[in-house]
Amino acid sequence: MINIRTAVRKELPLIDSLNREGFAEGLVLKRSKKDLKALIKNENIFVAVKDNKEFVGMVTLDFYSKRLSELRSIYIKENFRKSGVGKKLLDAVFEKAKRMRIKEIMVITSKELRRWFSKSGFNNKPHKFKIALFKKL
Ligand SMILES: CC(C)(COP(=O)(O)OP(=O)(O)OC[C@H]1O[C@@H](n2cnc3c(N)ncnc32)[C@H](O)[C@@H]1OP(=O)(O)O)[C@@H](O)C(=O)NCCC(=O)NCCS
Repeated sequence: MINIRTAVRKELPLIDSLNREGFAEGLVLKRSKKDLKALIKNENIFVAVKDNKEFVGMVTLDFYSKRLSELRSIYIKENFRKSGVGKKLLDAVFEKAKRMRIKEIMVITSKELRRWFSKSGFNNKPHKFKIALFKKL
């Protein structure tokens, strides 16, 4: 059985290793241990845990302000993809964000995943106040 819950401090190495796995696959950015630690402290990392022992997925909610926060680092181990775990992690983030009275969540993703995120309500309609700009260095 797979459970979704917030991560605790002693699980930092397991989360770090999941994030490194996603980074090695070229699918997520690498997060520093310092960042991960702070996210855990604020209960802003959700993990998917199989049978109370195996970490199979994670996601973070990076709080910037109540107006706008960011969903980051979503990663499910390959064998556990496409069976609803990602959707459950998104829902856990939405629930927490609502409790925190966050008004809007952004995500930066690939074209491939646009449809997956749009099924959970993310869209790229022009924002009233903000646009994303990128500079290559
Ligand atoms: C993207 C990801 C988080 C989705 O989670 P998941 O648990 O696999 O997805 P779910 O089971 O909740 O959703 C399944 C649906 O999404 C679709 N889907 C999942 N991954 C997909 C992908 N890479 N491309 C296109 N569609 C995808 C499935 O086809 C399925 O569609 P259906 O509902 O029409 O049958 C997960 O596949 C993953 O960790 N991928 C690698 C890491 C990554 O790319 N992270 C995103 C960084 S922004």
